[in-house]
Amino acid sequence: MVFWSIDTRETKKLYLYTHQKIIAKMNSTKAKERILFLTNLLNFHNHNYYVKNSSEISDREYDMLLKELESLELEFPQFADSNSPSQRVGSDITKNFQQAEHHFPMLSLSNTYSEGELKDFDNRVKKLLEGENYRYVCELKYDGLAISLLYEEGRLVRAVTRGDGKVGDDVTANVKTIKSIPLILNGDFPENFEIRGEIFMPKSDFAELNIIRVSDGDSPFANPRNAAAGSLKLQDPKEVDKRRLDCFLYYLSGEELPYPTHYENLMAAKRWGFKVPDFISKSDSIEEVFEMISYWNSHRDELNFEIDGIVIKVDSIEQQDSLGFTAKSPRWAIAYKFAAEQALTPLLSVDFQVGRTGAVTPVANLKPVQLSGTVVKRASLHNADIIAGLDLHYGDFVYVEKGGEIIPKIISVKKDLRPENAREVTFVSNCPECGSELIRQEGEAAFYCPNENSCPPQIKGKIEYFISRKAMNIDSLGGGTVELLYDNGVIKTPADLYDLRYEDILGLEKIIPAEEGKKEKRISLREKSADNIIKAVEDSKKIPFERVLFALGIRYVGETVAKIVARHFKTIENLQASDFETLKEVDEIGEKIAYSIIEYFSEQRNIEQINRLKKAGLQMEIAPEELVGDLLSGKTIVVSGVFEKYDRKTLKSLIEKEGGKNSGSISKKTSFVLAGDNMGPAKYEKANSLNIPIVSEDQFLKMIGK
Ligand code: IVH
Repeated sequence: MVFWSIDTRETKKLYLYTHQKIIAKMNSTKAKERILFLTNLLNFHNHNYYVKNSSEISDREYDMLLKELESLELEFPQFADSNSPSQRVGSDITKNFQQAEHHFPMLSLSNTYSEGELKDFDNRVKKLLEGENYRYVCELKYDGLAISLLYEEGRLVRAVTRGDGKVGDDVTANVKTIKSIPLILNGDFPENFEIRGEIFMPKSDFAELNIIRVSDGDSPFANPRNAAAGSLKLQDPKEVDKRRLDCFLYYLSGEELPYPTHYENLMAAKRWGFKVPDFISKSDSIEEVFEMISYWNSHRDELNFEIDGIVIKVDSIEQQDSLGFTAKSPRWAIAYKFAAEQALTPLLSVDFQVGRTGAVTPVANLKPVQLSGTVVKRASLHNADIIAGLDLHYGDFVYVEKGGEIIPKIISVKKDLRPENAREVTFVSNCPECGSELIRQEGEAAFYCPNENSCPPQIKGKIEYFISRKAMNIDSLGGGTVELLYDNGVIKTPADLYDLRYEDILGLEKIIPAEEGKKEKRISLREKSADNIIKAVEDSKKIPFERVLFALGIRYVGETVAKIVARHFKTIENLQASDFETLKEVDEIGEKIAYSIIEYFSEQRNIEQINRLKKAGLQMEIAPEELVGDLLSGKTIVVSGVFEKYDRKTLKSLIEKEGGKNSGSISKKTSFVLAGDNMGPAKYEKANSLNIPIVSEDQFLKMIGK
């Protein structure tokens, strides 16, 4: 590929032609050559403009080149490439995002706001690396949304959002409109690899976008991150193209990275055409890391993009491998987050909201105030104890802060500004929705409305939970539609969804009144939406047992517990028949969960629901392929090196399928190392020094009867 070293004199010559004239005279060989030439030239200028922030030609000249390419591709479609610069503005409309599985889970980073914890992190790294020298790479923590980009033979083939870490939305068509993401790479890139980064909206583009939105009567985005996320999820790539998104790359994942350090890999990625910012530093000690943090804490406002901290990563890939991962994040990296800003504003009123479980949550309404680039109007008050602890009164000036959560918190009250005769904020004693007297169980912070069968927000909340993505994934039924069906008396329980008939829902309509700064919304079920709902409900019958179990909304039975319970009991009947002791014997099920499951099955109403769902055809037993063997149960295994028969990912899933646990680092707890070719020397030595057996691929396959 030659486009980085293109001769700019060629560019000048080019303007001697008008593209119509060229096309009129062109035969197919010439057209092919010209298309290739224009593709390279436009890629070159795109890179200059969007990555290097410099430009050698005017916008007009750029547009002329692009137009010429488009005309040629139209005339000679046999040479039109799906990764051509003309495809940056998507031409087809994506109706719904497909889901795609990540090849390696997209984990998050553990984070801290304290220097002490950062020192603890450094001490942990030091200890785990057992006296080896190590170096950190410090990067800015870009505040946008994570993206995984897959390249094959130097061409972008897939872009997927983080999603739940395992599965995300395939947003390739939209990502292709982001000009700083190369569609075709340059140089000595690996044949196939994945690179991860952060899609964001520059501050100036965000400000401009909001001005336009407000003047068009749309509500402004709260912050650049939301604007970026909202833009990336638009259905029409042409609209995404108008949003001027950008992307910084920060991580190459894969088993065969070209260089032995993270820094060198990032620099290589930069050479291949990716936008890797210059603000990256290498630090040989934690003290140097603190210097970088302190510098950016006071200079972050000078950047044209939002950052919320500094990411600190161990540089050596081999050391990263030996430090490994916890279930949620790498042990070789941490994010230091900048302290949240605070704002002072008066408390206007308090709402008491009732959720799916009946828990009543107090929410403060505040006089709108600017905080870290967004306008804050509401803050969570959590529960009655928090209100009492703050000694909160109506009209009080309160300090609000945005932590990791989206909803800001009230940190304290400025009591010297309290108005005279201010009334104390007390918790309501009756449910604001249905009037039932609230109850509070011993040891619980929350007050509950006990009327779970006829308190409207509880019923709607349970249905919304049931249809949510991680549960039954009935995605054509949003919150507004559930409300519409409930208000019209069509559904009262999740099981009612499976009795829905097309003619019962066709034509139902609801107007959601305009909120401040927003337009009125109308939901109406025409043929297509009604059809989609019936179809999605039908499709949900294939959802595996563990997710059905999760969807039932049994208290404390979240995603992980549902999986454990499903694998252990295998059928809903077995679970229903189990007693307290049997439940408690299951790994990771404590008394609280066991009680909750027993209580759930002791209610006749719940049994009726389950029977109806069973009759409707939902999966009430574990699928054969989900059954877990026990050949490796209780064993912790480290997989290292390159294998002949299976790749590492498959070997790791075989381990899990036989009840074993994967670990990234060797310790006394390791049962054995499954080693292929080129196992890291550090790992080899460590295994030997701890007397940990090393098992070959063939021996392992024999062990599990393959
Ligand atoms: S590295 C396995 N580097 O922060 C390593 N992440 O809280 C994965 N982020 O989901 C992450 N800037 O979206 C890394 N320089 C940076 C980052 C960064 C922003 C985001 C990323 C991740 C989140 C974790």
